[in-house]
Amino acid sequence: MSEGRSSGNCTVVLGCQWGDEGKGKIVDVLAAEVHVVARYQGGANAGHTVHVGDDEFILHQIPSGILHPGKRCLLGNGVVIEPLGFAEEYEGLEARGITVEGRVGVSQKAHLVMPYHRLLDQVSEDQATQKIGTTGRGIGPAYEDKAGRRGLRVSDFVHPDRVASLVEEGVQRARRRVTLLGGELPGDIGAMVEEALVAAERLHGLATDTGLEILNALRRGQDVLLEGAQGTALDLDHGTYPFVTSSNTTAGGAATGSGIGPTAIDEVIGVVKAYTTRVGNGPLPTGFQPELDEKFRELGGEFGATTGRPRRCGWFDAVLARYAARVNGLTGLAVTKLDVLDTLPEISIATAYRTSCGEIHEFPADTWQLDEAEPVYETLPGWEAPTGEARTLADLPAAARRYLDRIEELTETPVQMVSVGTRRRQIIRV
Ligand code: IMP
Ligand code: MG
Repeated sequence: MSEGRSSGNCTVVLGCQWGDEGKGKIVDVLAAEVHVVARYQGGANAGHTVHVGDDEFILHQIPSGILHPGKRCLLGNGVVIEPLGFAEEYEGLEARGITVEGRVGVSQKAHLVMPYHRLLDQVSEDQATQKIGTTGRGIGPAYEDKAGRRGLRVSDFVHPDRVASLVEEGVQRARRRVTLLGGELPGDIGAMVEEALVAAERLHGLATDTGLEILNALRRGQDVLLEGAQGTALDLDHGTYPFVTSSNTTAGGAATGSGIGPTAIDEVIGVVKAYTTRVGNGPLPTGFQPELDEKFRELGGEFGATTGRPRRCGWFDAVLARYAARVNGLTGLAVTKLDVLDTLPEISIATAYRTSCGEIHEFPADTWQLDEAEPVYETLPGWEAPTGEARTLADLPAAARRYLDRIEELTETPVQMVSVGTRRRQIIRV
């Protein structure tokens, strides 16, 4: 896509389902080939699990590109940063022999998640009649403050007075809201905030203009990867509202959330799991009955990386995947966890939904329509053979290739990568 230009290539990698598509693995593979990896939205609600040799790393805020020596890792303005968790992650990586110093930059414009945001998130969920099933990390309240124009940004730390008054107002506001909800802020909230501010002060030392850094890298001919968190169906605008996260997970968010223009983006790779999972509340049209649900959870290790919550599982939903291809302008697909299907005699794909308004082929705006949606399934033969050692499409059983072909046809998007296990080498590049 970058022919005719001397600049580097800018690729977005994002989730096409409800998060947990295995983006961490795909980003990890692609990060080896780029100079800069940047996150553009979300916060510590994300959890990327990456396997390097026998080591497992779970990253919540720092891009998984950090596991490749020498890569520059950025947190864009669209990210909300929780300073204590960030410091813990930073130090944890250093303690495991990963050099982080000098490699991580945070946007001056990124907003901070304060302890009162987390408390508000938890109290709001406890009291809500319509529970979203949030990760309880304060993400929603932090973005509310951002949209409410009272948020605390990394750049504010050059003005200690401003920080003090913003935080003071933040605590007061949280106290009023928590009281209204019938709760109480803990007595040591002041100390908790102080501790967070000390960590935030250090964060300020990593402040940078992420958009400028990315553009300069591209101008030098270096490649850049923009890493999405969560997935398309959790996007604030395009997901299953209100059962969504509070940021734009879709490709447009990669531009606004990192500080580059959309024309700087060359490719958008959508990550889909070979089946579907969801954690938190809200509809999952292709969700399994308990027995198969349990089986997939076991086979796929489907427990949240951030919260440990069991994920609900279901068949591949091509209605959602086709929608994701459209709203993200996908140029390619990465299919993950194909090996999880290795033992199944038959595999189904949802191609439409049956609703009281008839059969629908487009993912509906009305989330409640999804509740009653009956998927129309197409069933394909399984391959009942291990795929973990496949390194090319030709190594795969014919039925597995047919399954991938069908996903490609239904989404009208070429499959460019297939992951067949948790290890770095367990990948097929097409
Ligand atoms: P929040 O982002 O914590 O506000 O949670 C809102 C919704 O997004 C809930 O359904 C969460 O379970 C879901 N969610 C947030 N982050 C992730 C993620 O990284 N993977 C999967 N689901 C997520
Ligand atoms: Mg995850």
